[in-house]
Amino acid sequence: MALHVAVIGSGPAGIYTAEALVKQSAEPVGVDVLERLPTPYGLVRYGVAPDHTSIKSIANYLRKVLELPEVRFLGGVTLGEHVSVDDLLGAYDAVVYCTGAMVDRKLGIPGEDLPGSVAATDFVNWYCGHPDVDPGRFTLDSSEVAVIGVGNVAVDVVRVLAKTHEELRSTDVPHDVLERLEASQVKAIHMIGRRGPEHAKFTLKELRELGELANADVCVRPDEAVVLGVDFPRQVQGNIKVLQSWAAREPVGRPRRLDVRFWLRPVEILGTERVEGLKLERTRLSEEGRVVGTGEFETLPVGMVLRSVGYQSVPLPGVPFSDQTMTVPNEAGRVRDREYVAGWLKRGPTGVIGTNKSDAAETVRTLLADLSDRPRVSGGAIDALLAARGVRPVTYEDWLAIEAAEAELARSLGRGERVKLVGLEAMLRAFRS
Ligand SMILES: Cc1cc2nc3c(=O)[nH]c(=O)nc-3n(C[C@H](O)[C@H](O)[C@H](O)COP(=O)(O)OP(=O)(O)OC[C@H]3O[C@@H](n4cnc5c(N)ncnc54)[C@H](O)[C@@H]3O)c2cc1C
Ligand SMILES: NC(=O)c1ccc[n+]([C@@H]2O[C@H](COP(=O)([O-])OP(=O)(O)OC[C@H]3O[C@@H](n4cnc5c(N)ncnc54)[C@H](OP(=O)(O)O)[C@@H]3O)[C@@H](O)[C@H]2O)c1
Repeated sequence: MALHVAVIGSGPAGIYTAEALVKQSAEPVGVDVLERLPTPYGLVRYGVAPDHTSIKSIANYLRKVLELPEVRFLGGVTLGEHVSVDDLLGAYDAVVYCTGAMVDRKLGIPGEDLPGSVAATDFVNWYCGHPDVDPGRFTLDSSEVAVIGVGNVAVDVVRVLAKTHEELRSTDVPHDVLERLEASQVKAIHMIGRRGPEHAKFTLKELRELGELANADVCVRPDEAVVLGVDFPRQVQGNIKVLQSWAAREPVGRPRRLDVRFWLRPVEILGTERVEGLKLERTRLSEEGRVVGTGEFETLPVGMVLRSVGYQSVPLPGVPFSDQTMTVPNEAGRVRDREYVAGWLKRGPTGVIGTNKSDAAETVRTLLADLSDRPRVSGGAIDALLAARGVRPVTYEDWLAIEAAEAELARSLGRGERVKLVGLEAMLRAFRS
């Protein structure tokens, strides 16, 4: 009898796990990919920046996995709401949790909850058209915005804020969001790193793109571009070189300005009714290498603060979770008997899409070794269970109908290949009709 596995989450980790299970030759396998949204691909659809179309095309690879005869997509099914861990262990030989990291990390400073202080997770979800976020959620009515963090997500957010409406028109950004970006009042963007250029987490290719923005001058202060030491990895040397070249050039009067700042940490978000400023403290590294304040402060007159300081996983009901690492404790992917984990939920919110492939492969190796001589359950029990609960999963064919409706919407608006449908209702209508 075939091995039946439930994969929870259809982001890169989930789909690479399904692929690794099907492609191994040891035994026949059937994989159900359960996903809370009606749409597959996780952050490839709702994270990767809309103007990064070549990265988004990784979805064309992932779709081939969902089209394998051994794999089924069951969208609109949430672990913890429609099914429990016990349900899954009753219906499958094994379960692999791949639910990623969906929430923001906190700064823990006063003013963090003021209107206008926004988690990058929400802002990214907004411009990516995630059904959890209303397209009317953000109005870009401040002339100055601060983005805290110097990782690749911060770079994405800055690019979307800095680009023109025309540059984003051919992307899949929801139409309401595009109109709000067109009406944006943002003139100055401050990207803030709490350490130096040599510690920034962004990658060279992504950094260089900021220097090519047609609509924004990129500025770095010469004193903040100085680094101590020379012995850095190639990527870091590349970043330093680019930043130092920007420090040496003058703005040419483009409509927007991006200031990339270093050695500043946020200490308070100022304002009474909403954000009116951001108080920063200059920093240095202590002898132990920790970021410490110098007691020298500066205030930026910003009306919006975007906190891009990393993502965080959330516990799944009935699944072990470490509050220290904010991941599911595991050994090479094994959580407990017949339960496994892969992707950001397994190792934390770092790494590019491809990192999840080798990560999923490790989990699948562990799973197959554990289950090689175990008796098998018979498949199909989940269908009866969901039907009894009145849950009709979104099928892969339903998803194709959503995709077709998005292509049709783009055609009708004279935009690129697709424009995201926003809200669950619009997506459900696409295949119910
Ligand atoms: C804003 C952003 C931009 C990025 N851009 C790039 C890029 O350009 N290039 C690159 O290489 N990498 C990029 N990355 C990194 C890349 O997206 C991640 O490495 C990858 O998506 C992690 O895969 P995952 O499957 O673990 O999680 P995810 O992609 O988050 O997938 C998790 C899936 O689980 C589902 N889920 C959650 N809870 C449940 C539940 N209870 N029941 C059922 N389903 C559930 C979610 O809806 C989601 O579909 C980016 C990351 C972010 C945050
Ligand atoms: N194009 C791409 O390939 C792409 C695009 C987007 C995302 N990704 C990947 O997705 C992953 C997540 O990216 P990310 O940008 O969310 O996370 P990240 O790379 O971990 O960057 C987080 C940034 O926030 C800073 N930070 C953390 N806590 C802070 C605090 N309390 N105060 C001030 N600053 C703070 C960090 O500084 P410290 O270093 O000092 O902690 C760092 O600069 C990364 O692996 C990234 O490469 C890739």
